[in-house]
Amino acid sequence: MELYSLKDKVCAVTGGGSGIGRAIAEQFAGRGALMHILEWDPATGTATAEGIVSRGGRAFSHPVNVGNQKEMTRVMSEIASGTGRLDVLVNCAGIAHVGNLENTAEADFDRLVQVNVKGVYNGMFAVIAQMKSQGGGVILNIASVAARVGIADRFAYSMTKGAVVTMTLSVARDYLAEKIRCNSISPARVHTPFVDGFIAKNYPGKEEEMFRKLEASQPIGRMARPEEVAWLAVYLCSDEASFITGCDYPIDGGFINLNN
Ligand SMILES: NC(=O)c1ccc[n+]([C@@H]2O[C@H](COP(=O)([O-])OP(=O)(O)OC[C@H]3O[C@@H](n4cnc5c(N)ncnc54)[C@H](O)[C@@H]3O)[C@@H](O)[C@H]2O)c1
Repeated sequence: MELYSLKDKVCAVTGGGSGIGRAIAEQFAGRGALMHILEWDPATGTATAEGIVSRGGRAFSHPVNVGNQKEMTRVMSEIASGTGRLDVLVNCAGIAHVGNLENTAEADFDRLVQVNVKGVYNGMFAVIAQMKSQGGGVILNIASVAARVGIADRFAYSMTKGAVVTMTLSVARDYLAEKIRCNSISPARVHTPFVDGFIAKNYPGKEEEMFRKLEASQPIGRMARPEEVAWLAVYLCSDEASFITGCDYPIDGGFINLNN
């Protein structure tokens, strides 16, 4: 038996055009999944799907804003109508913000909630009826170590990731009988355009210094690579993880337990 196979599972990943979401889409497709990439940026979503297809996999890209419930329910029902199933949803789309309470403007706060919190709610809301009717499914939400540890200048971002973890627990509890497993992953720093983007925006002229500082904040001495997060996602969404629900998994190079 091949372990961690996702053969013929119909899987959707939000934010699949870049970084962790793209790595998840690629790793899932490499294990036989029929991948659906839900991505705000049509160019990057299409590029991920085309890359998968060029390597012999199956993937489709759907331009969508995760913060828009109508769009999300429409796209998810289109996906399910193709094969009659939607086995796995990974909510990965997210945006960054650097700032403490005083320099978090109301508009920033609302924007973070709209994507990082409402986007996850919309994703789960849009698949739950289908998962119930087909007799089960798997939901995986990408949170962050910021949900557990007080990270400097991450006021709004941390708030959204705390909400992702608690939504995960709530859904895991409420849909036990329907055989829907729901878990989250909490990465520390992963080297993606997300990190490069907020460094460039918030620390102009100090990019190199800040990058090294962020690397060193993982006791293991570096940032994660996106595929390292994707491999954990593969396991949690595979049938081998059938006993796992209602858990948040740090993947953090020692960030939570060894930073002393
Ligand atoms: N990179 C890190 O260090 C790190 C650490 C912990 C958690 N995370 C979380 O992992 C997830 C992915 O991060 P990443 O580093 O791969 O980021 P990324 O910026 O490389 O990718 C995020 C993707 O989400 C898409 N997206 C953003 N808003 C969207 C919207 N409204 N609708 C649809 N798609 C949208 C972007 O276009 C992008 O393709 C995020 O939720 C982030 O908070 C990242």
